[in-house]
Amino acid sequence: MEIISSVSVLRETLQGRQPVAFVPTMGNLHQGHIALVEQARRQGRCVVVSIFVNPLQFGAGEDLEKYPRTLEADCRKLQTAGADIVFTPSAQELFPTPQQFQVEPPLIANELCGAFRPGHFRGVATIVLKLFNIVQPACAVFGKKDYQQLHIIRGMVREFDLPIEIVAGETMRAEDGLALSSRNGYLTPEERAEAPRLYRNLLQIREAVATGRRDFVALESAAAADLASHGWQVDYISLRHAGNLQTAQAEDASLVALGAARLGTTRLIDNLECSAP
Ligand code: PAF
Repeated sequence: MEIISSVSVLRETLQGRQPVAFVPTMGNLHQGHIALVEQARRQGRCVVVSIFVNPLQFGAGEDLEKYPRTLEADCRKLQTAGADIVFTPSAQELFPTPQQFQVEPPLIANELCGAFRPGHFRGVATIVLKLFNIVQPACAVFGKKDYQQLHIIRGMVREFDLPIEIVAGETMRAEDGLALSSRNGYLTPEERAEAPRLYRNLLQIREAVATGRRDFVALESAAAADLASHGWQVDYISLRHAGNLQTAQAEDASLVALGAARLGTTRLIDNLECSAP
């Protein structure tokens, strides 16, 4: 496995190694990332994983400085998972001059997580477009855990005619249902024990939708109230159309229940796809 931090060296190294399957990450890798790398291995001849904590997607007061940087451990895991190249650029390498051009995502980027993290998806779309241009992969794997991110990246690829197949990876969960996330490491032992409640509430919504319930607002409110009564600060619990992320309508067959809430200082997100009967 090669570890490369220069854009020009990466471009040179990738000559003749197509098709490339790409997994962009911010590091602090867990089993969820490793599953994406394994999925990438089944797609391409050469698997490139990027590790870059992207300042463009963090707002003021968010966790950019304290975001865990664990490069050595990450590289060991990637070696075992069978990655071919780890791309670890510095901010100076990716932004030799300030990034003045940015990708402006559509209005859906201002809803759900975007309503609580203004500019977040502009920062994500901008760095992902840069990484796509550098790596020029045939396919790229993104986790469904960041469902809104996946939706926005799919839209960007479609509307900019990028010749890249976007592959969705299933969310990996701990035994108690908590979605694996780099931010789980911030939780105290008490918060960690409480954390699966977000998943359990989404599961209840999924079961209710599967039995034909269509009172979506009541389902969302009940989940939010349960979380709030156990000390969570709820950003949103929302049922949406799984394809376009618009507010769920009674006639929609494929839905997704999405949630974001804070336990102490840690913001957790999760989602579950739901099918109407
Ligand atoms: O999902 C992430 O880890 C990040 O948002 C991504 C896609 C690597 C862009 O920085």
